[in-house]
Amino acid sequence: MASTKPQKKFRKKILCIGAGYVGGPTMAMIALKCPDYIVTVVDINEDKINSWNSGKLPIFEPGLDEIVRKTRGKNLFFRTDIEQQIRDNDIIFVSVNTPTKTFGSGAGYAADLQFVEKTARLILENSTSPKIVIEKSTLPVKTALAMERILMSGKGRVKFEVLSNPEFMAEGSAIKDLENPDRVLIGSRETAGGIAARRLLVDIYARWVDTGKIITSNIWSSELSKLVANAFLAQRVSSINSISALCEKTDADISEVAKAVGTDSRIGGKFLVAGVGFGGSCFRKDILNLVYLCRFYGLQEVADYWESVVKINEYQQERFIINILGKMFNTLAGKKICVLGFAFKANTGDTRESPAIYITHRLLAECAEVVISDPKALENAAIVMADTTGKLSYEENPYEAVKGCHAIAILTEWSLYKELDYKKIFRAMAKPAFIFDGRNIIDHEKCYKIGFNVYPVGKPALSHFESRV
Ligand code: UDX
Ligand code: UDX
Repeated sequence: MASTKPQKKFRKKILCIGAGYVGGPTMAMIALKCPDYIVTVVDINEDKINSWNSGKLPIFEPGLDEIVRKTRGKNLFFRTDIEQQIRDNDIIFVSVNTPTKTFGSGAGYAADLQFVEKTARLILENSTSPKIVIEKSTLPVKTALAMERILMSGKGRVKFEVLSNPEFMAEGSAIKDLENPDRVLIGSRETAGGIAARRLLVDIYARWVDTGKIITSNIWSSELSKLVANAFLAQRVSSINSISALCEKTDADISEVAKAVGTDSRIGGKFLVAGVGFGGSCFRKDILNLVYLCRFYGLQEVADYWESVVKINEYQQERFIINILGKMFNTLAGKKICVLGFAFKANTGDTRESPAIYITHRLLAECAEVVISDPKALENAAIVMADTTGKLSYEENPYEAVKGCHAIAILTEWSLYKELDYKKIFRAMAKPAFIFDGRNIIDHEKCYKIGFNVYPVGKPALSHFESRV
């Protein structure tokens, strides 16, 4: 276990409240790039902090272990003494979670800000020196105002500046994104105090990020830009998924369409991969949050426009199930289906909002027996599916998982699934054997020749039952 005691004098002290998927990797990167700063990450969850201090980090993220190994116990510390750390640090990032509200007004849409507010109160109660409080969590526009009001309720005893510095890293590529971001966004009040605080944060990032990539703005633009960036990304996924449905009706191929469309430099080729829909902790939550904000401000048409992005995402997942049901003779009862991949995307063990959750529930509702396989997400899968009834099991080894199965549903684009020996898999399965490739990652023609009935997304099916045109 790493030492949790800082050992030498440092030039700056930085605190982050919230040791999750965002707070942990972001602070590890700051510690790596600023060896003369001391970076402390605190969390109310003691088990999580213990895990950050152990040999098995609480999250899987390529490259993260190495950075933590280099910095932990030197200038990166994970602790639970939140109140003491607030007293000791004057630069405080807030990276607590902001889930969708499940109760009361705005339920199902608005962000639940109780953790952010609680954290602001905790900062106020434990501050005796001026602090810069930085919103790292994704928040509805104008949250900084609420934060300021809470912090100012101490009647000026201590001076606070609130900054917005949303994180744009994506899971699975977090380290690369943090090391070489497209941009860093820092919003502040346009007062002398706000601009001075902003400059201080710019200096931290300028240690490794080209200053041309550090964008400063007013605080509301910064808060809103994060929601909008996620909404635009999700919108691209829903756009291509909507067209994948049309491709399946017309024998067009979604990969060819995406390529033809994406090579227009005004459109760009990224984020045009059709699949089973987007997952992850951010997209759905942030769009619903945006929808709520638009309705709050009376912008019904704008709200409806963005809500349709979420609706298409739900439609895509349901469409995938209806396709499985239809192709497997309209009954799944008693059939064994292997879900290959449960993480919401490859290279992460995160299952939050993973399309696999909905799809597995629907398979079980059809009385299918489901075997879930994933190289990194089985622990989280078991947690998220814990209350489910039905025949459900977990098997990391894909060759074991597929034994006796009638169908495989590929739901995460793990590259290992491209390399599997599908001849061996075919031999181990019940016949006729089906593959529903929800991520279009395997060699469809090869699998068809092996004997599988292959159903990609947005591409012509390769079926031994239906004549090919
Ligand atoms: C992040 C952002 O912070 C969130 O706003 C964004 O929209 C999604 O991503 P993430 O890091 O993924 O959240 O969340 P999570 O992994 O759940 O981490 C949040 C951490 O904050 C948890 O470890 C939780 O225990 C901690 N927390 C929560 C506190 O320390 N104090 C609290 O009061 C509440
Ligand atoms: C996203 C944003 O990309 C990031 O900037 C923000 O900070 C957090 O939210 P993340 O959710 O970690 O990151 O992953 P991302 O790569 O954006 O993928 C989100 C979902 O969209 C995944 O389920 C992924 O499989 C899906 N997706 C993405 C597609 O289906 N097709 C694509 O072309 C791209």
